[in-house]
Amino acid sequence: MTARAVLKMGDARLLEPARPVAAFNTPELHALVADMRDTMQALNGAGLAAPQIGVGLQVVIFGVAKNPRYPEAEMVPDTVLLNPVLEYPGDEMEDGWEGCLSLPGVRGKVPRHKRLRYRGHDLAGQPIDRTVSGFHARVVQHECDHLNGILYPMRMTDMRQFGFTEVLFPNLAPMEE
Ligand code: NI
Repeated sequence: MTARAVLKMGDARLLEPARPVAAFNTPELHALVADMRDTMQALNGAGLAAPQIGVGLQVVIFGVAKNPRYPEAEMVPDTVLLNPVLEYPGDEMEDGWEGCLSLPGVRGKVPRHKRLRYRGHDLAGQPIDRTVSGFHARVVQHECDHLNGILYPMRMTDMRQFGFTEVLFPNLAPMEE
């Protein structure tokens, strides 16, 4: 499989809503997800949505292993999520820093729902139903926004909290969402 080029902000394809996946467990879907995994790993990402490689389908992948370089980052299980549906138990919001492979080199502080219930299907069509919080909830909200043509700066409420990663976090290697 192949690491694919990631579309950057400004490309109109990142602003289009994605279509639901109609059939699970197909060779085409497996090939798409393999390419997405290779792309995410090559760029050290925490997640990737299919529209970011120009495929307008409701497919996101995400996962964060325990990494000694990010001692405070919570672990997120490696997940393939198709046709996601999100709910927000409790309605509580919190701010956190985000990056995106479609906006390389910059970070912004983004308000997100603190608690998230997400449902959908895995590659084989098995149902997924998880209620999560914190960083895990943030990553999933960020990736699923891509399926609705939303990039994180469109969620920001204070553009003063937006800048270059190397300036904001001079001691951290980049990890992008
Ligand atoms: Ni992103």
